[in-house]
Amino acid sequence: IKKIIIDTDPGIDDAIAIFVALQSPEIEVIGITTIFGNVHTTLSTRNALHLLEIAGRTDIPVAEGSHVTITEGMKLQSSGYVHGTEGLGNQNISPPKGKPIEQTATEFLIQQASLYPGKITVVALGPLTNIALAIQLDPGFFKNVGQIVVLGGAFAVNGNVNPAAEANIFKDPTAADIVFTSGADVLAVGLNITHQVILTDSDRGELAKSNGKFAKYLSKLLNVYFDYHHTAYSTRGVFLHDPTALLAAVNPSLVTYSEGVVRVQTVGLTKGLTIFYNKKKRYDEVTEWCARPSVKVAVTVDAPKVITLAMER
Ligand code: BDR
Ligand code: CA
Repeated sequence: IKKIIIDTDPGIDDAIAIFVALQSPEIEVIGITTIFGNVHTTLSTRNALHLLEIAGRTDIPVAEGSHVTITEGMKLQSSGYVHGTEGLGNQNISPPKGKPIEQTATEFLIQQASLYPGKITVVALGPLTNIALAIQLDPGFFKNVGQIVVLGGAFAVNGNVNPAAEANIFKDPTAADIVFTSGADVLAVGLNITHQVILTDSDRGELAKSNGKFAKYLSKLLNVYFDYHHTAYSTRGVFLHDPTALLAAVNPSLVTYSEGVVRVQTVGLTKGLTIFYNKKKRYDEVTEWCARPSVKVAVTVDAPKVITLAMER
C-alpha cells in the first residue's frame, strides 16, 4: 500500500480529491498538509479538518503550512469566484473540533520522508511552497521522498489565471521552480491534461441522487464550481484538476508522460509560465537548461477512466 501525503488548499476539487483518496484501497493517506491558494492557509487548515470530520477520519493528522510565499513581493489572492469565499462552495461550515498537529507542514513532510525513505508519495494540489521549503531545509528530502505528483502548470496550452499561468504555479512561482529543478522524482499533471477531464451536469445529478458516502455532500459543493465554469469557459461541466493528479498517483497507468526539464518564469507578465524542454532539440545556448535534472510531464490521460473512478469512489 502506497503511503500518501496530500498537500492541499481546499478548494472544491481538492475536497473531491481528498474523498477519492480516502476511498482508494491502493493507498494509505498518512497526513494532510495545508497551504494557501484557493483560500488563505488558516482556512485551508479549517477546511481540511472539516473534510476529515465529514469522512469520519480524524485519525489522519493535519499539519498547517506556510502563510507566505517564497517568491518575494507576492500578495496572496484567494479564488473565491471559483470555489466560494471560504473555499468549500459557500456551505455554512461549523468550526471543526479537531486541531492541526504541532509540527508545521514542512517539518511533517521532512520527518515522514526520512522515516520511510523512498516510500512516500506527496500529492501536491496547491502552490508548492511547503514542498520547496522542505527541499531547502533538508538536503536529503529530494532523495528521501518517493515521488511528488504535482497538480500544476500548463504545458504548451494557456493558463487559467491568465494566458500564461496555471493557478498553483502562479501563486508561488519560485517555489515551483525549486521543486521542478530539485532532482526529486516529480510528475507534473497540468491543464493540458486536466482540461480533458470534465465532470458533466448529469454526473453531478447522479451524485445528488446517490447514497454513496460523499456523493450528496459533494454535489452541493459543486454548484459554485459549475457556475464558475459556465461563466469562464461556457462548458457544461467542470474540470477535475486535483482528483486527476490524485488518481494518477493511485494508478500511474492513467497517464503517459514525457521526460525533460521544467522551468518556471518567476517575474513579469508571464510569471507562472511553465516551460518544458525534452532535451532532444539541440540549441546553441542550452547548457543552463541541460544542467538541470529531468522531471516527468503528463502528456496523455485516460479521461473517461478518471471520471469513472472518481464517480465510483
Ligand atoms: C488548481 O487551482 C485550484 O483552483 C484548484 O484547486 C487546482 O488545484 C487548478 O489550476
Ligand atoms: Ca487545489
